Amino acid sequence: MAFTMGLNLLLLLAMVATNILSLYHLSTTMISTKPTANTNPPVPDHLLRQLQTIRATINHLTRLQSNPSGQTPPATAAGVPSELLLYTQLAPIASACRNHPDLLHQYMDYTPFTLCPASSSAAGEPLILRGCHPLPRRRCFAPSKQPSSLPANPFSPVPENSILWSNYKCKNLDCFNPDLGFDFKKEKLKFLTYKSDLDLPISQLTDIVKKSKFVLRLALDIGGGTGTFAAQMKQENVTVITTTMSLGAPYNEAAALRGLVPLHLPLQQRLPVFDGVLDLVRCGHAVNRWIPVQALEFLLYDVDRVLRGGGFLWVDRFFSKGVDLDKVYGPLISKLGYKKVKWAVGQKTDPSGVKNGEVYLTALLQKPVSR
Ligand SMILES: *[C@@H]1O[C@H](CO)[C@@H](O)[C@H](O)[C@H]1NC(C)=O
Repeated sequence: MAFTMGLNLLLLLAMVATNILSLYHLSTTMISTKPTANTNPPVPDHLLRQLQTIRATINHLTRLQSNPSGQTPPATAAGVPSELLLYTQLAPIASACRNHPDLLHQYMDYTPFTLCPASSSAAGEPLILRGCHPLPRRRCFAPSKQPSSLPANPFSPVPENSILWSNYKCKNLDCFNPDLGFDFKKEKLKFLTYKSDLDLPISQLTDIVKKSKFVLRLALDIGGGTGTFAAQMKQENVTVITTTMSLGAPYNEAAALRGLVPLHLPLQQRLPVFDGVLDLVRCGHAVNRWIPVQALEFLLYDVDRVLRGGGFLWVDRFFSKGVDLDKVYGPLISKLGYKKVKWAVGQKTDPSGVKNGEVYLTALLQKPVSR
């Protein structure tokens, strides 16, 4: 009991610390934008609400954990899945999970030690995307299929029969829009050519890296779809791991079938890599103005954490409104203090880009060797 209380206190401290940090961030933003305003700004309502949610969660977890029988979960009261109660004791679930009880119950509703429900991969992802990550642990067998044969080359066709199509509306890879990354003949041409200043072909990238007497061995591609950047870099003998979701299409499955490492990781999650171990991080199209600015800031600082001194950050076709690039995102990226090896801005000419006055930014930035 004292042990679990201690754990809860630790959790509370960690959460409060994170929130104080956000509060600090917010208040510094306020002070810098309104220098003459009240020097003691009130705590914003949404942060108060967030703190209340955390307190309620802690209280709830403490009540669940005060079950004296230890390992065996109590008979399920009020329809709470028993596995959920058990794993609440092993690892307290985050408040983001608690905010979506319907999804959480759907995900945790299974019979232990049997096959997981067919829809369970698809049921986990909405939770992850809503910030419930890591997901609560489960003890069931995820369905899987043995591929008929695996390609030796990441641009060869993959055995589609080993993808569990029940998770998707499409029932084969040809059904997807060819721009999504499942047409590997088309993918084979990516990252190789220079058509506009927004492009950074791999040959140019490796030249720049060589000239700066740096070496690329290990990289991370954030939001990398089916892993085509990793596939191209494999030909250069560079290992790239790709973070990707399987939202509406089997991106993770396709990357894995291509022999590339897919990390099933949302953008708001801390990168599961140790400090200062990567040579290059690429942020693809998924990193754009749709992400809240604060989340993007956390993401950039986490990228900085995992890059070693002298490492490169490649912002590939980040898009935002032109005015926001000047006022918000440009200054945000500049705060990292990286050397701007390349900084190219171009109009986003598709209908939504024109309507919203959007621009693309492609930047190659080099982390200082030491600070
Ligand atoms: C990659 O490694 C292989 C095997 O060591 C070598 O033959 C090939 O030339 C290398 N490719 C590049 C681009 O360095």
